[in-house]
Amino acid sequence: MNLTAESHRVPLSDGNSIPLLGLGTYADPQKTPKGSCLESVKIAIDTGYRHIDGAFVYYNEHEVGQAIREKIAEGKIKREDIFYCGKLWNTCHPPELVRPTLEKTLKILQLDYVDLYIIELPMAFKPGDVIYPKDENGKFIYHETDLCATWEVECHPYFTQPKLLEFCRQHDIVIVGYSPLGTSRDETWVNVSSPPLLKDPVLNAIGKKYNKTAAQVALRFNVQRGVVVIPKSFNPQRIRQNFQIFDFSLTDKEMKEIEALNKNVRYVELLMWRDHPEYPFSDEY
Ligand code: A2P
Repeated sequence: MNLTAESHRVPLSDGNSIPLLGLGTYADPQKTPKGSCLESVKIAIDTGYRHIDGAFVYYNEHEVGQAIREKIAEGKIKREDIFYCGKLWNTCHPPELVRPTLEKTLKILQLDYVDLYIIELPMAFKPGDVIYPKDENGKFIYHETDLCATWEVECHPYFTQPKLLEFCRQHDIVIVGYSPLGTSRDETWVNVSSPPLLKDPVLNAIGKKYNKTAAQVALRFNVQRGVVVIPKSFNPQRIRQNFQIFDFSLTDKEMKEIEALNKNVRYVELLMWRDHPEYPFSDEY
């Protein structure tokens, strides 16, 4: 497959297609100035990104919608050029809540449709307006639900997911890998005992050869093997850097060297919810 900045979509079985590179938009709402998401999505669209990954629970979905709408109004893009993925939060798993919750998201975005709507996490919380419901002892209040598969999986050179990837290839399922750069290393939900991915000597050495960063090599590795990546960045230089991955390619030997970095260790462990009956990360996939 010849991947270019203008053409890097992979087909989906419903006739649609998904760009292999998307912009992630999760940033800690407490630490992120209002408007950074808006600016970042606009810069990303100007850079050539056509896939934006967002969620109700990121508290900035209105900014994503505004950025897309502004770029449409400017004539830079049409709505159908953009692939937007939204997410159903844990408190809205009961089937009767799915449609109204999606409608709420559309209202927030002020868009007519989303291109993909996934279950954020397969762990239901008590339905209601409280996003992180807790009891009087500060314990999260869970909710029983039918476990539905979620197609979003952490995926990067330290967690290459060979078994899952093979299963998905056999069944024509496209994987979207979150945290393809090894996360923001937020200690509240990330396992920071695993070394930082972007400091990896192999990724850096390969990057040096192509005049690329370890981040660009990590992203290229996944798109080259057909895994969609959604690196978050609200930094203009890094938003652009992460898009410059279509002007070089890794040799088969380099792809194998990167595959061999796999440690089968997740960064995103979400240990605060490990007692949830549907906690998904105890099983091997
Ligand atoms: P920043 O927004 O300051 O660029 P996620 O795991 O949600 O995709 O987050 C990726 C993390 O990596 C963010 O903290 C982001 O911070 C950072 N990041 C994004 N692009 C790069 C890059 N090219 N080099 C180094 N860090 C990056």
